[in-house]
Amino acid sequence: MTDPRLLTLRRPDDWHVHLRDGAMLELAVAATARQFSRAIVMPNLVPPVTTRTAAVEYRERILAACPAEFEFTPLLTAYLTDTIDADEVAAGFEDGTFTACKLYPAGATTNSAAGVTDVRNIHPVLERMQSIGMPLLVHGEVVHGGVDVFDREAVFLESVLRPLVDRFPELKVVLEHITTEAAVDFVTAAPDNVAATITAHHLHIDRNALFDGGLRPHAYCLPVAKRREHLHALRRAAVSGNPKFFLGTDSAPHPQTAKESACGCAGIYSAPVALESYAQVFEEEGHLERLEAFASEHGPRFYGLPLNEGTMTLERAQQTVPESICQAGQTVVPFHAGETLTWRLREAAN
Ligand code: DOR
Ligand code: ZN
Repeated sequence: MTDPRLLTLRRPDDWHVHLRDGAMLELAVAATARQFSRAIVMPNLVPPVTTRTAAVEYRERILAACPAEFEFTPLLTAYLTDTIDADEVAAGFEDGTFTACKLYPAGATTNSAAGVTDVRNIHPVLERMQSIGMPLLVHGEVVHGGVDVFDREAVFLESVLRPLVDRFPELKVVLEHITTEAAVDFVTAAPDNVAATITAHHLHIDRNALFDGGLRPHAYCLPVAKRREHLHALRRAAVSGNPKFFLGTDSAPHPQTAKESACGCAGIYSAPVALESYAQVFEEEGHLERLEAFASEHGPRFYGLPLNEGTMTLERAQQTVPESICQAGQTVVPFHAGETLTWRLREAAN
């Protein structure tokens, strides 16, 4: 008889995370490695990761910061700039240094100043990626033309992503951290080489969370949370069983002081309770049985990577998430701070 208080899953992966560098690295890596077997690591460092050498060195720093008790594989990405070298990117994919490339429209988010100013500038790189099967990971927001911050994703879909997918029909594309019903519909209708990640926080909060009794910097991320109906569309997509949708936390720690500021940084730090947070959503939606596919199967299948062998177990046991976490000299406020969650990570076996 299986114990109904336990939920054992194939070990999951995080297909979109910010592990940072320097002082924040240790805290971020430990939290992600506790929860996940592999993670697609975002390259928006200062300076951004644009070469194989930078990526190899960053991977070494990540592995050095990882607690010995966890078996964790960081999968690195290249940060696309207007002038990035297609040969460097392709060589990095072919030798296993890079798993994918990340497209940040310049100015769209944290450390995106070196991003792409016009996608036409990277057409030759995209052509090359398409020919070698290298995935393109997209921050899908426009930042020009005075587009309202809540419309940036929807406008991006029609003005940038649709033409891009039409021009490169075989290119593997992951639309990251989707926030709108339009994105769900776009990805659902697209061919199988187009997929999306969904964060835990976008499955919990709508835009009202930003103004809940006052200004709430810890609910601020990019793309910003949208209206309630979009939250519902994201929840339906996540629990649908459709293999185009998979787990990507976009966990993005910033120091508490940088969030609680007159110009607070974008980013929600969900890594410490990521699985528990997703599990709660799947249970509320009546589809706990589909959590494993979303967390542990759809992502590796899309990327053409093997499924993890080990398991992890969640137990139905309340946990109150700390108001803040102080570790390795850093103080951060996690997602769900002060809230009580119904699931708790029990063990992670390899
Ligand atoms: O909220 C966000 N934080 N969105 C991003 O796209 C970047 C991230 C970060 O690096 O802080
Ligand atoms: Zn991100």
